[in-house]
Amino acid sequence: MHVRQLAALAIAFALMGCPTEGPGTPEPTPEPTPPPPGWAEDIQPLLARYCADCHTGAATAGGEVGWLNSLEDVVAEAIAPECEGEIRAACVPMRIENGDMPFPGGCLPGGLGCITEDELQLVYEWLDAGTPE
Ligand code: HEC
Repeated sequence: MHVRQLAALAIAFALMGCPTEGPGTPEPTPEPTPPPPGWAEDIQPLLARYCADCHTGAATAGGEVGWLNSLEDVVAEAIAPECEGEIRAACVPMRIENGDMPFPGGCLPGGLGCITEDELQLVYEWLDAGTPE
């Protein structure tokens, strides 16, 4: 009786499966891929900080709609000659890098700051990921 219980236990353990790798073999740790930055969570708040004053109104001085309000407008074709053939999203880092935006001179007036390298990098990552929501 006792022996049969032990045997049943042994079979149960066997059925539960044995580890395929022997001791000493390190478990393969899957590299966690960080999710790409998203429009609503990362990019919109970032651009709003530096660009909202001029790009969230009904129309900007340049005549464009306040495109920073919606992702749809951000991925629409830009109208400024500086952005020719580009969607606005792609033109954003271009105009930051060439010192056009925030207008004028690439930094907010009154010492409020310039967009940092890390922030710009985030915009590029978002573009590379295909401008996710
Ligand atoms: C003080 C006002 C002001 C601020 C702040 C500002 N812009 Fe602009 N922006 C303008 C004006 C005026 C135009 C239209 C004239 C031009 O294209 O140079 C424009 C146009 C643009 C365009 C072209 C849009 C299109 O449809 O063609 C892009 C892209 C742009 N800005 C990006 C930015 C980004 C990114 C920021 C923040 C980092 C920013 N701007 C901050 C005034 C501003």
